[in-house]
Parts: sequence; C-alpha cells; structure tokens
Amino acid sequence: MLSRPRRNRKSPGIRHLVRETSLSPGDLIYPLFLHDGPEDIPIPSMPGCHRWSLEGLVREVARASAVGIEAFVLFPAIAPFLKTKGAEEAWHEDGLVPRAIRLLKAGFPEAVIITDVALDPYNSDGHDGLVGPCGRILNDETVEVLVRQALCHANAGADVVAPSDMMDGRVAAIRRALDRERFTDVSILSYTAKYASAFYGPFRGALDSAPKSGDKKTYQMDPANVREALREAALDEAEGADMLMVKPAGPYLDVIRQIADHSNLPVAAYQVSGEYLMIKSAAAAGWLDEQAVVLESLLGIRRAGADMILTYFAKDIAPILGR
Ligand code: PBG
Repeated sequence: MLSRPRRNRKSPGIRHLVRETSLSPGDLIYPLFLHDGPEDIPIPSMPGCHRWSLEGLVREVARASAVGIEAFVLFPAIAPFLKTKGAEEAWHEDGLVPRAIRLLKAGFPEAVIITDVALDPYNSDGHDGLVGPCGRILNDETVEVLVRQALCHANAGADVVAPSDMMDGRVAAIRRALDRERFTDVSILSYTAKYASAFYGPFRGALDSAPKSGDKKTYQMDPANVREALREAALDEAEGADMLMVKPAGPYLDVIRQIADHSNLPVAAYQVSGEYLMIKSAAAAGWLDEQAVVLESLLGIRRAGADMILTYFAKDIAPILGR
C-alpha cells in the first residue's frame, strides 16, 4: 500500500505536527451577565452562569484573566421599572453597563471590553428595536437610538461595540458617529448574520428579555438562508465593520465557512445559550463528557473558519487548551 493515512496518527507527537486547527484562550470571548444588585445570582436557565453584581463581575474577570481569557462581552439584566417604550436607559451615562465598563477598564486596562448594542434589555416591548404602531419594528428611528447607546459605551471606555440588533444601516451610522466624536479607535464587531433562532431561549430567560409580543423574524435572519448572510457581510464590510459575527455557531458552520471565504475581515462565531445548555444538560445527566464535547464543538467552529468564539465555556475550558 502506497498510502497509509494512519502513519500520520501513530503517536501524539506526530498528531501534533499534522494538526490543522488550533484553539487557545486568546481565541475566546467570555460573555458575562450583570445586574444592579449586591449578590451574584445563579441563572436557573443556564446552570453554571450568574447574574453578577459589579463586585462579582470584577472577581469573575480576574479569575478568567488568570487562565488567559482576554476578551469579555457584557449583557445587563435591567430592573423592570427602568424598561420603557423608548429604551432610554440604553444610553444613560451612569447606567449599569457604563459603570461596569469603567470598573473593568480601571482594574484590567489590558482586557478587551465588548458591549452589546441593541435595545432588548431596556425596551418594555422586549424587542431589539423600537416598536411602532401595529407592532412594526422601526428601523431608522432605532438606528438613531443605537448610535446614542454606542457613543455612551465608547465614552465609558468600551474597546469594541457589537451591534446585535440586525437593523439596516446601523454599522455605517455608528461608525460615522464614533469618528465624529473622536472615538476612532473603538472597533465595531457586527452581528452580521444573526438568525431568528430558538437557541436563544435560555439567554432570554437569563435577562428576562423575551419579546412581549410577536417574534424577531422581521429583523433576524431566516435559518434557511446563506446567500443573504453574504449580502449582509458585504454591507457590513462596506459600512466599516472591523469584524463580522455569525450566530448561533454550531448549527451554522456552513455560514461561518462561506463568510470566512468571502470576506477578509476576521470572523467571530457565537456559541449561544441553547448550544451551551444542550451540552451542560447532557453532561449533568451523565450522557456526555462535558470537557471533551466542549473542546470538539469549539474546534469544529474554528475549523469552519471562525477566528474567535464567544462561549459561556470560556473560563472553564481555557486551562486545558494548548495541551
Ligand atoms: C439580543 C441578544 C440575544 C443574544 C445576544 N444578544 C438574544 C436575542 O436576539 O433574542 C443571544 C445570546 C445567547 O443566546 O446566548 N440583542
């Protein structure tokens, strides 16, 4: 036999030499939930995750930094009485997110602090955009408000703003406003291909942010489409995005691959709450080996073409990467 592929698998050293895909803590972004209260509250819909107090958030970032995690994305749980039809709390200079950014940048100047730009945590309607008559999501009015939210985060010291709302034209509007206000170094990580997915269920439970009526299908993408994702990618690139994101990750590996092949921008993928929960619950039942399955799923996402991965497993998996 001329070809025996098994020769390249015969020992750990050989396998390391021929390995095509790498995974290290520097590839990971750790999503963190926070709330305005004194305690760290476990999230029932996402075992192992918490709504952190500001002090708890600082401690969790310290623990994650110690195992090599360098990037964090913040998701606030906003008190019900602060949620309004106009989502004004989203750009309150002394709101929960700006306070968290200032604390983290003071304690961890080297950490990359990313914020989610969308209205769902702040909006009494629970939608990412403003809701008009007959339940219509108002695109251009929403973009104006997202610009204020992005400027508020930049002003507090965010390194990267990540619009996750899927409104048309928001990347260009945010880039223009950031530059006008001299935030030329603040990056935009655009949720380019964000699908209307059932895998976000546990996240909405964590933040109490499910839409009060209707669904998100008039702005988030149809899971059946991939050419539409390439169109979104081309627009975001032309509008000045620095990085493109695909979300969810596991069920959309083909979308990650296609965007990575079509764009020269770095590609991020979000392993979302439902993907996290499927692994967690199967492991808790003793049906799957959590660590092995997490590694394999993250490697699959990297192999599909993602440069970076947002994952709730970031802190737990980091210590065993690179071995
Ligand atoms: C909302 C937002 C969502 C997630 C991140 N940002 C939920 C949604 O669009 O309804 C989901 C993340 C996850 O499920 O882990 N702007």
